[in-house]
Amino acid sequence: MSTINLGSIEKIPIGQGICFNVDGAEIAVFRQRDGKLFATQNRCPHKQGPLSEGVAGGGKVICPLHAHKFDLATGAGSEPHECVKTYAVCEQDGSIHLSL
Ligand code: FES
Repeated sequence: MSTINLGSIEKIPIGQGICFNVDGAEIAVFRQRDGKLFATQNRCPHKQGPLSEGVAGGGKVICPLHAHKFDLATGAGSEPHECVKTYAVCEQDGSIHLSL
């Protein structure tokens, strides 16, 4: 497993997510209002909606296209057979550290 420094935590507005391109993969990193960070694949398994632009809170993200929900910790989806890949992410010294 490798860890990548994605830069300052301040890039992500509180309560929102942004998409990072990591080795050709789109990864959404979310910064909840309580300070917790989560990371998932950016593209929704339904019709490729950008999850980083969805509403995040309470450990879930709502896809901006058709409102399917995904658990940010487990990746489990609200619809049968839909789930997203999750990644370990944390803050260290003000920077976002993503584990792949
Ligand atoms: S593309 Fe995400 S719910 Fe349809």
